[in-house]
Amino acid sequence: MRLLVLGGTQFLSHAVAAEALGRGHDVTCACRGVSGEVADGAELIVWDRADDAPPDVTGTGWDAVVDVSRVPSHVRRAVAAVPDAHWVFVSTINVYPDNHLPGTPATSRLHEPITEDLDPASSPEAYGAMKVACEQIVTEGTASSMVIRPGLIVGPGDGTGRFTYWPWRLDRGGEVLAPGSPDDSVQIIDVRDLAGWIVDSAESRRTGTYDGVGEILGIGELLAQAAEGTGFDGSFTWVDQGFLGDQGVQPWSGDDGIPLWLPRPEYDGMTAHDPTPSFEAGLGVRSVADTTRDTLAWLQETPGAARTGISSEVEARVLAAWHTR
Ligand SMILES: NC(=O)c1ccc[n+]([C@@H]2O[C@H](COP(=O)([O-])OP(=O)(O)OC[C@H]3O[C@@H](n4cnc5c(N)ncnc54)[C@H](OP(=O)(O)O)[C@@H]3O)[C@@H](O)[C@H]2O)c1
Repeated sequence: MRLLVLGGTQFLSHAVAAEALGRGHDVTCACRGVSGEVADGAELIVWDRADDAPPDVTGTGWDAVVDVSRVPSHVRRAVAAVPDAHWVFVSTINVYPDNHLPGTPATSRLHEPITEDLDPASSPEAYGAMKVACEQIVTEGTASSMVIRPGLIVGPGDGTGRFTYWPWRLDRGGEVLAPGSPDDSVQIIDVRDLAGWIVDSAESRRTGTYDGVGEILGIGELLAQAAEGTGFDGSFTWVDQGFLGDQGVQPWSGDDGIPLWLPRPEYDGMTAHDPTPSFEAGLGVRSVADTTRDTLAWLQETPGAARTGISSEVEARVLAAWHTR
């Protein structure tokens, strides 16, 4: 297969290129080449997608295209350049506005599309609404296509520093502040499982729209599996969300945050997308223990690898306050 990866210098798109190369495919990445290196063996076409597509990209007989863009004009330009290939477009579960409701692509409402280019970092809503527009540009403008809407993507190479908090924290041992209730749902997908499914789907020209999500787990179960993966032998102290809020601890990410933790019931749905249709369409997922073990190994061998989340000092202060409340 001649595969064109639009991206390839970062986390997921790099993993897609690496997976396809490992299967013997002919892989070209097209991007600016400023965010990192492409996988060994991939060809790089330098293209800033704010500009017209270079001749090397346009109409050169690609079998499949994988795109991860969030910018409608970039997707429009690429679809116009390569309309005849099979496209796998990587979107996001942020296309769904109703974070409190679980669902599937067949049952969930979408944001109204935003077709102009806004800063995707400005809000999750703008990001999701632009991804809706990008999806439509792909599905309407290409010969055949698949749309995958991932939830939280984790694993080695994760530059967002969200899930990486947990392998780092469990490796330190001791008393761990566990956020919210152990039954609160969480859902992750290992980047390598997602990349494998994307390449499978490019090979088989799978069509349709799917969520790219793993099993729905209680956060207590996820942390138990993560503990197994890291050899953690400390203890968890569960601290309820109201108390965490009073202590100034933020959900999800950032230096004041605890990753994976989201307010309830507002986010009950975002962390509980039914994975069954995706599993039936070939998505296979490894255990959280494996993901956590491999992410810890990557953290340990990668100086400067990203990690957000509260410091040890803040965690100790909040735990002390909880015990004396
Ligand atoms: N991380 C998560 O938890 C999560 C969750 C849900 C969905 N997603 C989706 O999953 C995908 C993740 O993709 P990713 O890991 O590969 O990271 P990404 O940050 O989405 O990928 C960016 C890629 O696009 C290229 N790019 C950026 N601006 C460009 C431009 N102006 N012209 C040409 N290329 C440009 C970058 O290369 P250069 O900078 O080198 O040009 C890089 O290779 C995205 O679609 C994201 O929306 C992520």
